[in-house]
Amino acid sequence: MIWLIETGLVLFALGGLVILAGGLAKKPLWKEIGALIASIMGPLTLACCWFVLLHVRQNETIYWARLMAGDAAEMFAIGSLGLIVGSGLAVGALSLEDRFASLRAGAIFLALSWIILLLHPTPHYVPFPGWFDKLVWFMVLVGGAGICVVVFRKLKDCLRPFSTPLFILAGVFPLLSLVTFSAHRQAQVFLDLGSMPTEQRVSMMGCLVCHSMNGEGQPNPGGGLEAVASRTEDELREFLLEPTEQNAKQFNIRENPTGDMAGVHLTPGQVNALLEALSSIYGFRQPVSENVSMEGVESILTAKTCLACHSVGDRGAAGGGVGGPLEDAAKRSRETLRVWLLNPSTDNAKQLGIRENPIGAMGSFALTEAETDVIVPWILSLKEK
Ligand code: HEC
Ligand code: HEC
Repeated sequence: MIWLIETGLVLFALGGLVILAGGLAKKPLWKEIGALIASIMGPLTLACCWFVLLHVRQNETIYWARLMAGDAAEMFAIGSLGLIVGSGLAVGALSLEDRFASLRAGAIFLALSWIILLLHPTPHYVPFPGWFDKLVWFMVLVGGAGICVVVFRKLKDCLRPFSTPLFILAGVFPLLSLVTFSAHRQAQVFLDLGSMPTEQRVSMMGCLVCHSMNGEGQPNPGGGLEAVASRTEDELREFLLEPTEQNAKQFNIRENPTGDMAGVHLTPGQVNALLEALSSIYGFRQPVSENVSMEGVESILTAKTCLACHSVGDRGAAGGGVGGPLEDAAKRSRETLRVWLLNPSTDNAKQLGIRENPIGAMGSFALTEAETDVIVPWILSLKEK
């Protein structure tokens, strides 16, 4: 459905080009035709955007979130500015021309686009009540169209000198709206979260359009992500893999969930990377039933000579060894550690974000499932000490 928006944008930008070409070629009729195209295609495209994005928000929530608050948000904002301001400017430019028919068509389209807003639910991040939101847009769109008609009737002659700069702007802003294309492309790029710094992972994905974190972002409808500190990692993982209303209940996230996150589809790798980020910032609640049997741990450490290449406290290899202190590994997620220890290959070291340039020395020291069940809780427990 995104193609609908993009077709609209191309036609809108075409209007801008015709205006600029008319200005250069000193053809007033071209300018007028261009402005007419822009003032009709602008509101139509805007309406289309609202419908399509509402739909996208429900099913492809991350795509939408990345446009609104994630890595594509800046480009999306510039493109939207081009579309909204460009539509207004096109009608404004027509109000300084001589033909009422053109202005009337433009003004009607601008005013009617308010109906779309009336039907559109007020987004949760708009800081005032729904009726006020509708009123503001009424004043901007219907009021703006009205003002253009008044200008045409009463003030046209004294505002004539502004005609040329107004046409130039009305030609340039529609071209600016094409930046939306880059935003759409960016929001489709797969984000390899594991290779990003942990602090950026949550914001790049646009999660902060529904969540806040240390006061940044929107606290509605998802609430502050600080809440993760009182959840266990396993509950969060199960929920994030399929964040439906039922799962929010089942994994004790909410008693009365909204289900608003159900359209968020994350890969297991992305979930791990996000959990790692959240746990490094807030930490998670440790499951109560976790008891680490040191006997089992010691026998594995000895049998597999882990401490030849790692350190724990003041034991083991000097300076942490080639593999580093195991306390450092405690910040990794349970799943990351499990996958790693079952198969400590260089590929996994890269994929799990353990090392950018692995030396691969651990390749032949893989553990069995039973051994990872013993070692992983122990490594995780090193965090608190
Ligand atoms: C469209 C809004 C929306 C987006 C986008 C969104 N969430 Fe959520 N999230 C929610 C809602 C709402 C809940 C609470 C569950 C419910 O009501 O269904 C929630 C719950 C959560 C929880 C559990 C919170 C707790 O109280 O323990 C986590 C963790 C979470 N989200 C992480 C994320 C991450 C990470 C992203 C980005 C990849 C994200 N969310 C994107 C709406 C959203
Ligand atoms: C021969 C040396 C060697 C031995 C033996 C070894 N490791 Fe490693 N380990 C490494 C290296 C090197 C890395 C980093 C990955 C790389 O560069 O290939 C690593 C990485 C790790 C990590 C992830 C570290 C991080 O930063 O998150 C953990 C956890 C780990 N090893 C645990 C173990 C355990 C448990 C054992 C014993 C079963 C063990 N290692 C045995 C060399 C070794």
